[in-house]
Amino acid sequence: MKRILVTGGAGFIGANFVRHMIMHSDVEITVLDKMTYAANRASLSGLDEQRVKLVIGNICDGAVVNELVPQHDAVVHFAAETHNDNSLHDPRSFVTTNILGTVELLEAVRRHGVRLHHISTDEVYGDLEFDDPQRFTELTAYNPSSPYSATKASSDMLVRAWIRSFGVVATLSNCSNNYGPYQHVEKFIPRQITNILDGQRPKLYGNGRNVRDWIHVSDHSSAVQRILESGEFGRTYLIGADGEQDNLSVLRLILELMGKDERFLDWVPDRQGHDRRYAIDATPLRHELSWEPRYTDLRLGLEQTIDWYRKNRDWWQPSKSDTEKRYSYQASQAAKVAI
Ligand code: NAD
Ligand code: DAU
Repeated sequence: MKRILVTGGAGFIGANFVRHMIMHSDVEITVLDKMTYAANRASLSGLDEQRVKLVIGNICDGAVVNELVPQHDAVVHFAAETHNDNSLHDPRSFVTTNILGTVELLEAVRRHGVRLHHISTDEVYGDLEFDDPQRFTELTAYNPSSPYSATKASSDMLVRAWIRSFGVVATLSNCSNNYGPYQHVEKFIPRQITNILDGQRPKLYGNGRNVRDWIHVSDHSSAVQRILESGEFGRTYLIGADGEQDNLSVLRLILELMGKDERFLDWVPDRQGHDRRYAIDATPLRHELSWEPRYTDLRLGLEQTIDWYRKNRDWWQPSKSDTEKRYSYQASQAAKVAI
C-alpha cells in the first residue's frame, strides 16, 4: 500500500493518523478535507510536502471524490461532523456529511475497486448501565441515542451493505473516546484545559457521573494501521484501551495536574439524552491482530496533553471564543425549549 487517501485528515484523529503513518510507514498521503470549523491546517504543519498533500474538498462532491479515489490504493474515511452537542442543534449537516458523504465514497471505491477503511464510534451501540458487567463487542446490537450517533450507525450499515451487495473490499472500526493533541476545544478534555488556561471555570454536565472509555489518539492510530495492514476484509474491529472513567474523576485529575482546587468548576445543565456509559471489549483486535495500546496511563497522557495545550495557544486560541459563544447560544436555545 503506497498511496492512501485520508478523508477528514485536517481534523483531530485524522491529523494524528497522518502524522503516525508518516512516521511509521513509507506511504504517501492525500488528505481530503472540507476544512469545516473543526479542521486546522496547522495540525498538518511540518510534514514532508512530498509525502502529504492537502486537497480542500467535500466528500459529498462526487466529482472530487471520483477524481481522487482511483489515484490511491486505499481510503481511510475519518471525515464527519462529530460533536454530539452540535448534532442536537443542527442535525441536518450530520445527515449530509456522515450519511450522504459516506455513500459518495462507497460508490467511488466500488467503481474504482479501491480498498476502504471506515472509521466509526462506540456510540453506535447506545449506552450501558453503570453496573452492567458487559462491554460492547462486535455482536452488540446497534442502538444509537443522538443524531450524531444515529448518522454514524447509518454510515456503518451502508458500508456493510456495500460489502455484502457489491463486494466492496472494506473494514470498519468503532473506537471509544479519544484524547490527545490537536483536539478541537469544543470537546470535553480540551475545553476544560483551555478554560483553566484562560482563568475560566470548567463546565461539568449533569452530575458528572457519566462514564467514557478513554484512549490516547496515538493508540487509535496504531490500531487503524494494524487493521489496514492485516485486518480481515468485511470485518468490524472494536478499538479501546480499558480506560473507563467518570467525567468528574477526569476533571478532578485535570484540576489537580493544573494546580487548581477540585471545587473550581461549574455544574451546568445536562446534555439532552446524555449517554451514561461506554465500554469497549477489544479482545479480537488484541488477540487476532496482536495490537496492544501503549499510552494507557491516563494521568501521564493528561499531563502531556495539558502541556501540549499550554505550549500551543496559537493553535487553539483562534477557535476558543467562537466555541464558547456557540455553547452559550445552545444553552439559551435549550432553556427556551425547557420553558
Ligand atoms: P473532528 O471533528 O476533529 O474532524 C473531522 C474532520 O472532518 C474535520 O477536519 C472536518 O473539516 C472534516 N469534514 C467534515 N465534513 C466534511 C466533508 N463533508 N468533507 C470533507 N471533510 C469533512 O473529528 P474527530 O474527532 O477527529 O473524528 C474523526 C472520525 O473519528 C469521525 O468519523 C468520528 O466519528 C470518529 N470517532 C471519533 C472519536 C472521538 O473520540 N473523537 C471516537 C471514535 C470515532
Ligand atoms: O465515544 C466516542 C465519541 O466520543 C465520538 O464518536 C465523538 O465524536 C466524540 O465527540 C466523543 O463523544 P462524547 O459526547 O462522549 O464526547 P464529548 O467530549 O463531547 O463529551 C465527553 C463527556 O463529557 C460526555 O459525557 C459529556 C461531558 N461533557 C462534555 C463537555 C463538552 C461535560 O461534562 N462538559 C463539557 O463541557
